Amino acid sequence: MGGYGDVKLLNDDGSRLDGRAIDESRPVEVKVGVIPVADGSAWVKHGLNEAVCAVYGPMEAHPRKIQLQDQAVIDVRYNMAPFSTSDRIRPGFNRRSREISKVTAEAFASTVMVERYPRSKIRIEIEILSAEAGTRCVGITAASVALADAGIPMRGMIVGVASGKIEDTVVLDLDKAEDNYGQADLPMGIMPTTGEIAFMQMDGDLSMDELQQAIDYNFTAAAEIHDIMEAALRAHYDGGDE
Ligand code: CDP
Repeated sequence: MGGYGDVKLLNDDGSRLDGRAIDESRPVEVKVGVIPVADGSAWVKHGLNEAVCAVYGPMEAHPRKIQLQDQAVIDVRYNMAPFSTSDRIRPGFNRRSREISKVTAEAFASTVMVERYPRSKIRIEIEILSAEAGTRCVGITAASVALADAGIPMRGMIVGVASGKIEDTVVLDLDKAEDNYGQADLPMGIMPTTGEIAFMQMDGDLSMDELQQAIDYNFTAAAEIHDIMEAALRAHYDGGDE
């Protein structure tokens, strides 16, 4: 979020630089079972973002000091591959990836039925292969599908979506230029089956009306992406990928 108000991000006809309407998401594709050795796995392409997630467990939590007596620990590692981006600081394990790992784990701890697996651990590995803004959201979407593929009971799949503000206009699903030069970004983790919000962050400023518009865009997009996730799981389990 660079916040440079003078960078032009909307065309004269109101469309965005990549031609999308203000309430239009980048295209989303989902594949299930892409890592054969994992207990569950998924690949998600969202615009030019690509994420792969592998889930292992539930397994005994080691070392014992990380065990929780009455529930499973959700252990998330979000990482941007070195080749996933061309600019800014070199990706890798840093403060940003630690923060994203932590908030992602907290989101899943609220939806996975962790109480069924005391003293155990569920390991979620998210690798960003290609980054074009919104990678924490794509990672969450991929992790939900990988958890479902692993057969881990959840109250619902969380869908990662973001809206933001560019040129004083609320728009759905910021791309890289919009994220860099826009005025606000609101990534959310939404469970369309229950209507709950499992995760929410905000960067920049939004008025109450703008916030409500951004939330509404996110809920609509989450429901559409949830359908794509379900279709990919169904295609995988009905035999033959898509
Ligand atoms: O990816 P997300 O929007 O969740 O997080 P961000 O910290 O707002 O990063 C926005 C975008 O900046 C990423 O998706 C990448 O395209 C880019 N970025 C990068 O190129 N190098 C980094 N070390 C971090 C982010």
